[in-house]
This record gives sequence, C-alpha cells and structure tokens, in this order.
Amino acid sequence: MMLKIENVLSAAEVDQCRAIIDEGPWVDGNETSGHQSALAKKNEQIAQGSDAANKASALVMAALGRTPEFVAAALPLKVYMPMFNRYAGGQTFGNHVDNAIRQVRGTDVRIRSDLSCTLFLTDPDTYEGGELIVQDLFGEHQVKLAAGDMVLYPASSLHRVMPVTKGSRVSCIFWLQSMVRENAAREHLFRLDTSIQQLTVEKGGEHPIVVDLTNLYHNLLRRWADS
Ligand code: NI
Repeated sequence: MMLKIENVLSAAEVDQCRAIIDEGPWVDGNETSGHQSALAKKNEQIAQGSDAANKASALVMAALGRTPEFVAAALPLKVYMPMFNRYAGGQTFGNHVDNAIRQVRGTDVRIRSDLSCTLFLTDPDTYEGGELIVQDLFGEHQVKLAAGDMVLYPASSLHRVMPVTKGSRVSCIFWLQSMVRENAAREHLFRLDTSIQQLTVEKGGEHPIVVDLTNLYHNLLRRWADS
C-alpha cells in the first residue's frame, strides 16, 4: 500500500524545519547507504548526529506522533531517526532497494525497515524533476507532493528519485519497523480502522456494530502484532 498523508507539517513547521537544516552541515549522501544503493545515489544529506539533524528530527518525530493517519497506517514499533537530503544540479538516486535492517548509530538497536517514508519539504513549483518513482506489481507510481505532505510505501519496493534539473529538492526520509510485519495485514487493519472511524461518526461509538468491529480490530492486531 502506498499512502499519501497531507499536512504532516504545517507551512510554519516546514519553514522552521528548513531554517534548521538549510545552514547544514551537508555531507555526501552515501554516509548511510548500503552497498548497492551507494552506486546509485548522488545527493547530499545533513550530517547524522549534528545539531541540525537532531533538532529537525525531533520536530518531525513530534509531528508524526500527532498524525493519527500515520499511526493507524504504519502501526510504528521503531522509527529510524529521520534524515534530511537535498538534490540539485542534476543529482539523482537511481533504482535501488532500501536495506532490510538498519543499526541505530552508536547502539546495538536494529530496526527492520517495513515502510519507507518521504516527507517533502520544498514547494514543488520551485524545482524540476525530483519525482519519487516507486515500482510495484501494478507498475510505476510517480510521487511529487506539496511541502509538508508525506508518502508511505513498502520498503520492499524498488524505487528511485528522478534527476533534479532545476532548483533544489529538500526532503526528509525515514524508515520504520511496524508492529505488523506483513504489508497486506497492515493494510487490512488500516482499512478496518478507517471504516470503524466512519461508522462511529454515522452511528456513534456505542453502536453494537461499532463495538463488534472494534473488538475484531483488536483481536486481529493481537494476532498479527509484535510489541
Ligand atoms: Ni531508498
């Protein structure tokens, strides 16, 4: 499932985030790449562990925590610290797959990447190219969103970023391990959750069908989730 979530960051928060990261320190994007993706990746990213990275990551993490659609769709267990990258002057990231397992810097914590997330931080009218292309069995999906909007997609997908031929594209990317490992199971839960929310608005939270479906939701979560 690919999911677009709008307004994860408000316009003011996008500005705040950009004010933190635009000054850098920017380093070669291959600081965090796996072997195959290093061959395809040509961009810059904010140095991991820098003040700017820590502050901007904290801002994004706080926004994620108050975005119910993100929590419902991703069912996050562990989130790899958000990173910030920039493409300009024809920079690109060719077709690649994200590493399945990531170790958190300076710790022995490992995170399995179930979902990949891109949070756009640049007004799309100010740059050319830079579309995120995600491949699945239905073909290729092209994504270029407004600043503050985010896309979630299965980390198992091959994907790429088209060359940025004019202007620059700054965005935030991160991976997460979901409580529910299987994409299909996570999607069933999200759809059930969304239907329960709608039914609650129409019938009220006390309605027996709402109670019954909520019971079913939690029993499926109990069956499928790691915590
Ligand atoms: Ni990637």
